[in-house]
Amino acid sequence: MKSSGKVAAITGAARGIGRACAERFLQEGVKVVISDVDGEALAKTASELGRPSELRAVVADVARRAEVDHLVASAAREFGRLDIMVNNAGVARNRDFLEISEQEFDEIIAINLKGAFFGVQAAARQMIAQGDGGVIINMSSVNALLAIPSLATYAMSKGGMKQLTSVAAVALAPHGIRVVAVGPGTILTEMVASAIFSSEDARRSVLSRTPAGRCGEPSEVASVVAFLASEDASYITGQTIYPDGGRLSLNYTVPVNEGA
Ligand SMILES: NC(=O)c1ccc[n+]([C@@H]2O[C@H](COP(=O)([O-])OP(=O)(O)OC[C@H]3O[C@@H](n4cnc5c(N)ncnc54)[C@H](O)[C@@H]3O)[C@@H](O)[C@H]2O)c1
Repeated sequence: MKSSGKVAAITGAARGIGRACAERFLQEGVKVVISDVDGEALAKTASELGRPSELRAVVADVARRAEVDHLVASAAREFGRLDIMVNNAGVARNRDFLEISEQEFDEIIAINLKGAFFGVQAAARQMIAQGDGGVIINMSSVNALLAIPSLATYAMSKGGMKQLTSVAAVALAPHGIRVVAVGPGTILTEMVASAIFSSEDARRSVLSRTPAGRCGEPSEVASVVAFLASEDASYITGQTIYPDGGRLSLNYTVPVNEGA
């Protein structure tokens, strides 16, 4: 209950990792504003999560600055303040490197990188006005460091997020605001099902690069987010923490257990 009484906003929280972060924060006594571009899925998630006195849902497309500003303003209006901002919304498209169009490049960068930048700015302005600091957490990926050519736009966006996190951490440190990132390996969500686990070969190749021998669960990312949001992480800023089952440490591939 280290963050009990705080207020958090989470983008892309209708499902997957964002939803798991909302569940974890609610368990810890944090008031939560969940947000997503998919209003129908968001409303369903909000009703499944329950806790109407500690939860609000705000539809927002992170690629639109006014909608991100509206999300932060809603958190402040509904719960009086904002202490924790999780810029989690993200999309991935599988595409041959030479086939990536200008439109697709713009779309992925607008959601994954520009959206997170809008979130950092909007949250920081609110936190500075409150005057007692805060924490901003960006959902990055091991692809901030690793290269998968078929996910080039995604990798470029997450590489940019690494620098967004560093630059914002330095810019906002004088205000007592920490900015950190979480860079998961392969986590079992719909994004992975659609963009990565598209075939048995793809699944085997992911596991051959995963020393833990399994994919991660959204709750295993949410627990890292909860730690980074808490006072236990009070001296961590500017860094990306990678819950990746050993992916970044691996040199050669690992043998894949047929039943895994
Ligand atoms: N699942 C993984 O293996 C993995 C690994 C590393 C990083 N990540 C990152 O974690 C984050 C969440 O991924 P996930 O696996 O839960 O994905 P997901 O596809 O299950 O959920 C993403 C959510 O973001 C929402 N979203 C999409 N575009 C949006 C927009 N423009 N504005 C607001 N919301 C939008 C979707 O509607 C969806 O609810 C992403 O940033 C992703 O890059 C995921």
